[in-house]
Amino acid sequence: MADLIELFHSRRAVVGVLGLGYVGLPLVATIAEAGFASVGFDTRQDKIESLRRAESYIRHVPSSRLVPIVRDSFAAGTPGFFPSADYADLRRCDGILICVPTPLTENREPDLSYVIATAETVAAHLRAGQLIVLESTTYPGTTDEVVRPILERGGLIAGRDFHLAFSPEREDPNNVSFTTRTIPKLVGGITPHCGKVAAALYGAVIDQVVPVSSAAVAEAAKLLENIYRSVNIALVNELKMLFDRMGLNIWEIIDAAATKPFGFTPFYPGPGLGGHCIPIDPFYLTWRARQFEMSTRFIELAGEINLAMPAYVVERVADALNERGKSLKGAKILLLGVAYKRDLDDDRESPSFKLIELLQRKHAQVSYHDPFVPTLHSGRRYDYRLRSITLDAQSVAAADAVLIATDHTNVDYDFVVRHAQLVVDSRNATRNVRLGRGKIVLA
Ligand SMILES: NC(=O)c1ccc[n+]([C@@H]2O[C@H](COP(=O)([O-])OP(=O)(O)OC[C@H]3O[C@@H](n4cnc5c(N)ncnc54)[C@H](O)[C@@H]3O)[C@@H](O)[C@H]2O)c1
Repeated sequence: MADLIELFHSRRAVVGVLGLGYVGLPLVATIAEAGFASVGFDTRQDKIESLRRAESYIRHVPSSRLVPIVRDSFAAGTPGFFPSADYADLRRCDGILICVPTPLTENREPDLSYVIATAETVAAHLRAGQLIVLESTTYPGTTDEVVRPILERGGLIAGRDFHLAFSPEREDPNNVSFTTRTIPKLVGGITPHCGKVAAALYGAVIDQVVPVSSAAVAEAAKLLENIYRSVNIALVNELKMLFDRMGLNIWEIIDAAATKPFGFTPFYPGPGLGGHCIPIDPFYLTWRARQFEMSTRFIELAGEINLAMPAYVVERVADALNERGKSLKGAKILLLGVAYKRDLDDDRESPSFKLIELLQRKHAQVSYHDPFVPTLHSGRRYDYRLRSITLDAQSVAAADAVLIATDHTNVDYDFVVRHAQLVVDSRNATRNVRLGRGKIVLA
């Protein structure tokens, strides 16, 4: 067992990553760049084929980053990244990291089907001496109570024959100040020794590893981080509605409060929550809390307020049109941004989908522009089949209102305001626009 720690320290170990999405792809690249031979697996064959050509499908992981590390064949001891379609390659791995989705079911309960399917795949190839780490965000207890029994089905025992740990991913796509390597990594094992082995692997890849006493503590810490964001965003969303009624600008108030050098962290309002994490993860804990006969009122309240935001924004659009003698019915609305976050190509759980639904329900004609999302794909809940239109003087002027839902930095907001009849801005993207401020309504 001590050998495995040495293998990680010396980077002679082989590391496998299951799930090459927004989390797994930058992670496997970082591991290969640290000098490990690594193998990446994904159920999507098209992703594996694309990676074999060193072509990235994630905008902030450029292909130029993959070119020097992608290998055509597996070679233990040679640093690099081998995309594999053959799960038998799992046996070659000393460490296996699981980065698969953890969404909610239709009833807003944890959907662990991807984690379970992946654990079953790993179990089928498990050999003594391996380290398995779950990275997917989930409720405290998952690694020990869900993953462990599946891995032990073949007779090997966690903590004795193989190592098992949890280490949450803290990826913040497009954050220029932090990368996978420089974001401190929490690590908790299902036994103290499992934690040590996992810390040895991450210590060879990540600048700072933070060991905690158990996998469950690491699972809970990740949820605390995301719940903290959800609750604070809900707070400013609620205050936005109140201050607006008082004729006060929430953005100016937040900037003012943020000058306090201690005890205040700014959070910003918006048209609702989006992305894979903040709208989903808190409800993993809510569900788990029910098993302990507790309710999580902060989480529920924050969810309620944040979920109400798209309706509030649409109401602001309707009011602003009304002021100008128009109704939402039949109005042409140009939605700016469908990505859930600035400068990303990720539209998962984006509040823009809800905005389109609510606007269409009121019989508005909706078009959209997003420089990073050329078309809307059909999803579990929505099937809009819209294409991003060109943002030019004509398309902007033709809209009765331009609704800013995402504040992409490569959009010229001076231009938009100059040509628009009306701009409803839910992100304060127009904060630096000087001319035509009378056309702007903050929402
Ligand atoms: N995206 C983020 O910014 C972020 C940040 C922190 C944590 N997380 C967490 O990380 C986890 C992964 O999120 P993501 O954004 O990378 O998801 P993603 O959907 O981008 O990627 C997941 C990948 O796993 C693959 N996959 C599914 N089942 C598989 C299986 N059985 N075997 C192999 N591959 C499989 C999918 O094809 C997909 O490519 C989630 O738990 C999420 O909550 C995400």
